Amino acid sequence: MSRYAYVNGQYLPLSVAGVHVEDRGYQFADGVYEVVAVANGHAIDEEAHLARLDYSLKEMSLAWPVSKAALKHILKRMVALNRLTNGLLYLQITRGVSRRDHGFPKPGVPPALVVTAKNMKPVSPELLEKGVAVVTMPDLRWKRCDIKSVSLLPNILAKQAAKDMGAYEAWLLDDKGYVTEGSSTNAWIVTDKGEIVTRPLGAPILAGVTRRAILALAKEAGLKPVERPFKPAEALKAKEAFLTSATSWALPITRIDGKPVGDGKPGPMTLRLRALYAQAVEKGL
Ligand code: PDD
Repeated sequence: MSRYAYVNGQYLPLSVAGVHVEDRGYQFADGVYEVVAVANGHAIDEEAHLARLDYSLKEMSLAWPVSKAALKHILKRMVALNRLTNGLLYLQITRGVSRRDHGFPKPGVPPALVVTAKNMKPVSPELLEKGVAVVTMPDLRWKRCDIKSVSLLPNILAKQAAKDMGAYEAWLLDDKGYVTEGSSTNAWIVTDKGEIVTRPLGAPILAGVTRRAILALAKEAGLKPVERPFKPAEALKAKEAFLTSATSWALPITRIDGKPVGDGKPGPMTLRLRALYAQAVEKGL
C-alpha cells in the first residue's frame, strides 16, 4: 500500500512528497515536532500533544501554520489515507522557506507543515518479557530540552552509541551525574519503598506526554509517584526501572551499564503501570 504525506496543504504520495531546499528546518533545524502514537485508528492523547506543540511553538516564536482544529482534521485524514490502525503520526513545523540567513525571515513567510504516518508493530512480547538495556553517557544537549525541537543531533548520536553497545536506549547524565532522560524517552525507577520516581519537569527534559499520563494514572491508583532527580547508582539499587514514550508506553529496563536492575526481570510495578496505560488507551485516552 502506498503511503501519503501531508506537505503544506497537499496530500501527496510519499514518493513525490518533498520540501524546498531552503526550508529552514533543513538548513538550521529551525522547527519543532510531535510524535503521536495511533492505536486502533485513534490518536492517543492528541490534546496533550497539541498542548505541548503549542508550548514549543511559543518558545520558538513560531506561529501555528493552520488552526488547531484544521491540524486535527489533517491528522485524522492522514490516519484514513494511510489506513493506519497501529502506528504513529509525525508532524513537523518549521520556520518556512527563505534565503539562508540566521536571523528570522521577514514577516509574512508562512511556517511549513509536514505530516507523515507509519504503521508499527506493537512492542514485541520478547522485549516485554526480558526488558531492555540502557547505557549511561553525558548529556551533550542544549539547555532547552523542554522544547521539542527537530534539532536532535546529540540525541541520535547517543541512541546510536547505545545501539552499538547492544543497548536499547541511552540514559543521559547532567553535570552532577543525575539522569536527565533517555535520548527519546523519559526515565523512571521504582524504589524499595514503592516510590515511582521520575525527574521533575524543567529545561533539562522534555515534558513527556506519556510521562504525564503515567503520573496521573499512578496517582489515581493510589500509588506513590515522586518527582525528583536520581542517579544511575540509585537506579541500580532500585527494585525496577523503566522508560516511557508515546511509542513504547512503559517499557521495563532490566540492565543499566551491563548490570542487572533488581532481580534482572521486568518488575510488577512497571507492568501494572503499562496495563493501566493500555486500559486508558482502550477507553480512548
Ligand atoms: N520521543 N524525551 C525525549 C528526548 C523524547 O524525544 C521523547 C519522545 C520523550 C517522551 O515523550 P512522549 O511520552 O511525549 O513521547 C522524552 C519521540 C517519541 C520521538 O522523538 O520519536
